[in-house]
Amino acid sequence: MNLQLNKNNIFTSPIYDCFLNLDIDKLKQVCYEIKNNDGSKERQYSSFNGWHSEIYFNRINEFGELIDSLYHIVQTIKTELGFKKDLNLNILQYWININGNKSYHAPHIHRGFLFSAIYYINTSKDCGDLELHNPNKNLQYHVRDEWLDNIDKIYNNYVIKPEPNKLVIFPSWLEHSVRVNKSDEDRISIAFDIGVI
Ligand SMILES: [Fe+2]
Repeated sequence: MNLQLNKNNIFTSPIYDCFLNLDIDKLKQVCYEIKNNDGSKERQYSSFNGWHSEIYFNRINEFGELIDSLYHIVQTIKTELGFKKDLNLNILQYWININGNKSYHAPHIHRGFLFSAIYYINTSKDCGDLELHNPNKNLQYHVRDEWLDNIDKIYNNYVIKPEPNKLVIFPSWLEHSVRVNKSDEDRISIAFDIGVI
């Protein structure tokens, strides 16, 4: 049979990553200083056994370079995805995560935002991979593992290994979780929510 079979990968999820070149030692120090001066230890959100700073809505100078870099990337993504030029897409909030041994994040979305980002400052092997969940959830009711050599080929969650200076940006509607930190090292990251002002 001589035919051209087209394949269209539709309903895709745009996930971006890059490495910044920031002074992570300085950022690490700033994060610990903020944590040590934090009177409240009760914030949980989606994090278990971890520390979560208050949510920041304004610019903190120590994170200025990071905020500027992300802002620049967001504008590139805005253009690349075809959002209107006059749409004001910006960072709306951010917070610090310090997650030690046995901490993890349960599956969640960032409701009401357009994109979310995570920037890693301190990481180690097995410090808790980021797992972006396949949005085609119903597939699990139709395809059995034993039918395929590798079920991951069509039903995979996308796993991202934390690395220092790595910045990951993904749609806020994409469910994600963070695996358990099995190391003795704190995973330090800053999370951002991006939306329309
Ligand atoms: Fe999240």
